[in-house]
Amino acid sequence: MTFTVAIDGPAAAGKGTISKAVAAHFNLPHLDTGLLYRAVGAQMLAGADPVEAANNFDLADLAQDLRKDDIAQAASRVAAIPEVRAALVSFQQRFATRGGGAVLDGRDIGTVICPDAQVKLFVTASPDVRAKRRLEELTGKGIDTDYATVLVDVIARDKRDSERDTAPLTLADDAIILDTSDMSIDAAVAAAIAIIEKKLN
Ligand code: DC
Repeated sequence: MTFTVAIDGPAAAGKGTISKAVAAHFNLPHLDTGLLYRAVGAQMLAGADPVEAANNFDLADLAQDLRKDDIAQAASRVAAIPEVRAALVSFQQRFATRGGGAVLDGRDIGTVICPDAQVKLFVTASPDVRAKRRLEELTGKGIDTDYATVLVDVIARDKRDSERDTAPLTLADDAIILDTSDMSIDAAVAAAIAIIEKKLN
């Protein structure tokens, strides 16, 4: 049986950590689909045409540090281009349906990429909490920034990701919301696993 878990939500809500932990728990492969848009965004910053970069996307493009904030903003911009999204659909759908299933996280997994996923989670948290988490992550990497700058970036990315015409960040009808604002990461992971197990039974 193919068992697909779709995990969507805004930036820095805990999706990545939850998805990795869920994939490990259920022994499934995991695809962080944001990395695809980040890889295309990084190529745009290096002067490439984003549509061409997406058409020529290769797994090797992910073998670089894509976690910088300028790349995140570039990813959010290229993700609004319909031709870029179209070029990346089949790679994601192939990943989702190979073997025994997979965990994919992103913005449009439950709505566009895997509308038939067995479980759909929408992981969210308040902008304030997400900005604090992102600030901690960036300063932990030695990146010099501050709360106000990170909050502005988080809000700008939310707006762009939710208001674009093609595959905007939105709640699938059958998604279960997991608000991690007041949860530790361990509690959020446990809650996600409990939701999936309940769905499976
Ligand atoms: O999840 P992330 O922060 O790495 O994503 C980077 C950007 O990529 C995000 O701002 C929006 C875009 N994205 C998207 O449009 N659709 C996805 N499935 C995943 C990411």
